[in-house]
Amino acid sequence: MDGNRRWADQKKILRLQGHQEGVKSLKRLVRHVGALGLDYLTVYAFSSENWQRSNDEVSYLMELFGRVLAEELRELAENKVRLRFIGALDKMPANLRKTIDKAMETTAHNTGLKLQVAINYGSRLELTQAMRKIAERVARGELKPDDIDEGLISDSLYTCGMPDPELLIRTGGEMRLSNYLLWQQAYTELYVTPVLWPDFGPEHFDQAINEFVGRQRRWGGD
Ligand code: IPE
Ligand code: MG
Repeated sequence: MDGNRRWADQKKILRLQGHQEGVKSLKRLVRHVGALGLDYLTVYAFSSENWQRSNDEVSYLMELFGRVLAEELRELAENKVRLRFIGALDKMPANLRKTIDKAMETTAHNTGLKLQVAINYGSRLELTQAMRKIAERVARGELKPDDIDEGLISDSLYTCGMPDPELLIRTGGEMRLSNYLLWQQAYTELYVTPVLWPDFGPEHFDQAINEFVGRQRRWGGD
């Protein structure tokens, strides 16, 4: 979900308002994706590198995440959305952490859209932690090095149990992955649109899906 601040800059309004509009865009998209009956949606809300932004912006974003989550939890739960947060959650502010845990518990048995929110997420950190976890199990004698396979690695990531994403949509036009789901996206189709996140609506999502279904996916084969 990229481009909130550029959107605000273009409109000559406060950048924080760009983030507020970004939230609206997310709510609209979650509803749309739910109505389409898709099973999984993962959104990149805050990367482990985003802490480098100004204190003001970071604390605004943390406050915004907590507020929006608290406000939206009921509607999400009613719509059977199952929420999961992926990232280094232990490093999040304690209040937000509580709200996050509550949201995951409340929706844990829901059977609708599985919505994953990447927050304080970094793919290399995720992989590093997974390797450490696996190494500890080997050291304890629970596993042999030969037992380590792709399935075990996938199961040791934050995203365990989630199929690899089929399509990545990046708004805001940057042509990079920005440390996002690097292992999981080995064969993901990439779609980059210049549309800034606050402007990204259902019609843009449908355009991305239409292009995706027309692509030939070969997974390295013929
Ligand atoms: C994405 O928009 C939202 C977050 C990273 C929280 P940006 O804040 O990166 O906005 P731009 O890319 O600077 O316009
Ligand atoms: Mg950005």
